[in-house]
Amino acid sequence: MAIQVIDQRLFVLHTAHTTYAFGLNDKGLLWHLYYGQRLTRTEDLLWQLNHLPSVPHHGRDTAMLEFSAAGCLQNKETSLHVVHKDGTRDFRYALTNISVAEDTLTVTLTDEPYALAVDLIYRVWEAHDIIERQVRVRNAGADTVEIRRLFSCELTLPGDGWQVMNVSGMWSLEQQVHVDAVTYGKKVWESRLGTSGFSAQPWFAAWQQADEMQGEVYFGALAYTGSFKVAAECVPYHYLNVVMGLNDYEFALPLEAGESFTSPKAYLGYTSEGLGGMSRRMHAFAHDCLMPQQRRDETLPVLYNSWFSTEFDVFGDDQKKLAEKAAEIGVELFVIDDGWFGQRHHDRAGLGDWYVNPDKFPKGLQDLIDHVHGLGMQFGLWIEPEMVNPDSDLFRAHPDWVYQYNNRAIITGRNQYALNLTRPDVVDHLIKTFDELLSSYTIDYIKWDMNRFLAETLQADGSHGTVWHEHSRGFIRLAQELRRRHPNMSFEACAGGGARVNFETLEIFDQFWPSDNTNPLDRCRIQEGYSMIHPPKYMRAWVTDGRLPLALRACSAMCGALGIGVDLNKYTAEELEEMRTAVAQYKEIRHVIQFGKLYRLRSLREHGLQVWQYVKDDEAVVITLVQHAAEALPIIRLEGLQADARYQVGEGEKAYCVSGAFLMQRGIRTAGNRDLNGTVLRIRKVEDNHE
Ligand code: GLA
Repeated sequence: MAIQVIDQRLFVLHTAHTTYAFGLNDKGLLWHLYYGQRLTRTEDLLWQLNHLPSVPHHGRDTAMLEFSAAGCLQNKETSLHVVHKDGTRDFRYALTNISVAEDTLTVTLTDEPYALAVDLIYRVWEAHDIIERQVRVRNAGADTVEIRRLFSCELTLPGDGWQVMNVSGMWSLEQQVHVDAVTYGKKVWESRLGTSGFSAQPWFAAWQQADEMQGEVYFGALAYTGSFKVAAECVPYHYLNVVMGLNDYEFALPLEAGESFTSPKAYLGYTSEGLGGMSRRMHAFAHDCLMPQQRRDETLPVLYNSWFSTEFDVFGDDQKKLAEKAAEIGVELFVIDDGWFGQRHHDRAGLGDWYVNPDKFPKGLQDLIDHVHGLGMQFGLWIEPEMVNPDSDLFRAHPDWVYQYNNRAIITGRNQYALNLTRPDVVDHLIKTFDELLSSYTIDYIKWDMNRFLAETLQADGSHGTVWHEHSRGFIRLAQELRRRHPNMSFEACAGGGARVNFETLEIFDQFWPSDNTNPLDRCRIQEGYSMIHPPKYMRAWVTDGRLPLALRACSAMCGALGIGVDLNKYTAEELEEMRTAVAQYKEIRHVIQFGKLYRLRSLREHGLQVWQYVKDDEAVVITLVQHAAEALPIIRLEGLQADARYQVGEGEKAYCVSGAFLMQRGIRTAGNRDLNGTVLRIRKVEDNHE
């Protein structure tokens, strides 16, 4: 049974390999009891609940609570902060209800005098070893209550010496992996910009003794695309307290009588198989349970995007010629980026005016689309719905639609203003505009960009406490509605690169653009950060022009969903042939890359070379990128194969056959030792008698 409720006070959640438990102590407080390897004897947990330590007067934080609220002699980050009309600002509860429905447990805590209820909601994803958590606050009282903080989860991890991981970055250098020891105080990762952003990401990993290959790792991801906060705090009483949820910066939500407010979902996990085990669990969960269902099992096509070739100079006839070349090298999806609409001749004008520029497309856009379809490719288009340039018809018509203060010039970011998506009329306008665009042309794919963050978030009525959150809800409504109306369209999330990659957009978009930086070595580091929790399939990676060898550029891009961004106009017949070969090679291996399990065998960050192995059924692909080979490359043990099976390693004359045990226990050199080299090695199971 996935959910056990014992004596109406002990709650035990089991997944295939883990157990999570909490319970009500004799003082009526909910304590966290256990998270880790699956336990079968729940009487041990009952014993633990009956023998919890007493809480010293000066040390309330010794209590490893399942849910804590501000104002109750706690110094650590708490999950809830409410302010009542009479000025009371704490939450003292009694457990008033327990409900179990299929895979979901809801435990209700009520602060009786105010009739304020908090539902702690746990959904057990048994097969995927994930515990989903959400918190709902319900105001059954007569007065408005202000919520100043509501996190989605709180996790207490006993012991000292915790290491934590997140990724930090900036435009063009996203997702740089960081590991920090939290020896005292707290480590906070957050966004205060209205979207998940570049600086940190809404997830964490924590461990005491673990590495890529082994050890116990706890992890969690927040399904939220707005301003978030994750704090990992070393509480002096020998435990790590991790909270994760909506950012409380400038957050103040008036909850009227009869209203409720539900936090975003948080997904928690535990593995004893190191960071690699964490990634594989999250990849499988994201793919099987979150990614858009109708498309997740479809292979992503090889894409060509003309942005680096033509930038804003997008003209119908030129694009046709590029499309012909793209088709020649095996591209399956041809995409026009920025510059096709309004007066968008540069980034200072046109955003907001979503009509096809008649000078650039005198025969219309459909003429180009038909040409692309005629070449056997799908057609895709770039949009940036949430923004306007000051120099646009939309802004001239609706100057009040953007965030602004009355007495100041509006801040620009990339020469643009952010539309106020907390206004239903603005979101409705965008739904109508983009629905018409997507319905008027036979478009197959959309790259949805967002190139500035939020500021000046003030409403006409002077309120601001919910704007950050409401803006992100406006975006979600817009994206969900367009997705609903165009179920066969493929959507890619982009925000100046990777500023909008999270487990909420993952539920709507089919893929994301990780970074505007396509240097293959930088990309290895960037992609490693993404791969910590995001599936490789979701990660678009382009081969672009550059001085580094094509093999390196191509191999870096083959680690995800391959795209091409080179200027095909400048390519000789020989170079086109090289590109065609790389595309053909990717098509042979992509079912393993896009749907296989990822093993990060070596990291460029630590070893001067990156070796990623993907395993699907009886096949594996190893992609090696060498920065510095020096005298010799290391012998590398592979993972995830069948020990007693025989495999053919490589292709053609140099291929050889060995057992899975040999590959995993002795290991092989996966590439030749040349600097700046990229190699794809295919490994396929063969019949026993095959030599
Ligand atoms: C952003 C994106 C790029 C490209 C440009 C177009 O910077 O990240 O990939 O689409 O916008 O203006």
